Amino acid sequence: MKELIQKLVAPSSPSGYENNVRDVIKAEVAPYADSVIVDALGNLIVTKGKKSTNGKRIMLSAHMDEIGIIATHVDKNGFVRFSNLGYLYPRNCVAAHVQFLSGVRGVIGVDALDDPSKQPSLDQLYIDVGASSREDCPVRVGDAGVFERPYIDLGKRVVSKALDDRIGCVLLIEALKQIKETPHELVFVFSTQEEVGTRGATTSAFRVDPDLGLAVDVTRTGDVPNTSKMEVSLGKGPAIKVKDGGMIADPRIVDWMVETAQKANLPYQMEILEGGTTDARVIQLTRAGVPSGCLSIPTRYIHSPAEMIDLSDIENSLALLLALLRNPVELK
Ligand code: CO
Ligand code: ZN
Repeated sequence: MKELIQKLVAPSSPSGYENNVRDVIKAEVAPYADSVIVDALGNLIVTKGKKSTNGKRIMLSAHMDEIGIIATHVDKNGFVRFSNLGYLYPRNCVAAHVQFLSGVRGVIGVDALDDPSKQPSLDQLYIDVGASSREDCPVRVGDAGVFERPYIDLGKRVVSKALDDRIGCVLLIEALKQIKETPHELVFVFSTQEEVGTRGATTSAFRVDPDLGLAVDVTRTGDVPNTSKMEVSLGKGPAIKVKDGGMIADPRIVDWMVETAQKANLPYQMEILEGGTTDARVIQLTRAGVPSGCLSIPTRYIHSPAEMIDLSDIENSLALLLALLRNPVELK
């Protein structure tokens, strides 16, 4: 699975510019799918299986976009000011390498701060691409880019940019490849523009009109030094979302996930995330409402250029996903 992870984190695809990673995913899924379409917002919608009498139409969603930057101004000395595509922590940006979609590279610098003990704001940061004037700066206002950081293999854990949420995309691809029998019509949505407000999942959920919805996305952990309380750790299994900043998961979906994990003897953790949300929020709220939940992958340093996951969590998340999708679903 490491190979596929590495392949999926490589493309530069910030919110709104998902075409690079979409091409890679499309090539992976095409041989296993009944149908593949790209909708008006760029979502890749992949179906497999037919709804049998005891089956449901299940929408699974993982977002393709990653956090990024977009140029807002080039000053007379060729320094580029930028805005965010998705939520950026300014402290994670200082000295980071960026690459624009045009291929232009640069490094992020920071203005002198009145109070250096405080973290800078985004508008105190700039990108230095090695230019010395506006005229010789190869960046134009509106150019988008992403963080650049090599993937590193730590053995049972790996570190990369864009694991939020390419790791979710990896799980959907593997589930599609490995599932043989299912009573359900499975609709795998590789969504766009999640990081700017779950926009791709909003329109794709309306199109798919599912009976059940499940997002697969990352969640933070409470197992690093001096962090705020969070009952999720790396390496202790997939997290079953109970609640986040934008959604209360349907308790029947939570029970279904917990019981399935127990029956399959898989480790799992319960997740309550104080801030942030996932595509599941908008699946739940589409049309007249859809019972929805989320399988979360424990991840450290989310929304930094160096996110970390544990491969045992990925194996166990895939096993749980397959167990969920193989059998009929009776919500109690
Ligand atoms: Co995110
Ligand atoms: Zn995400």
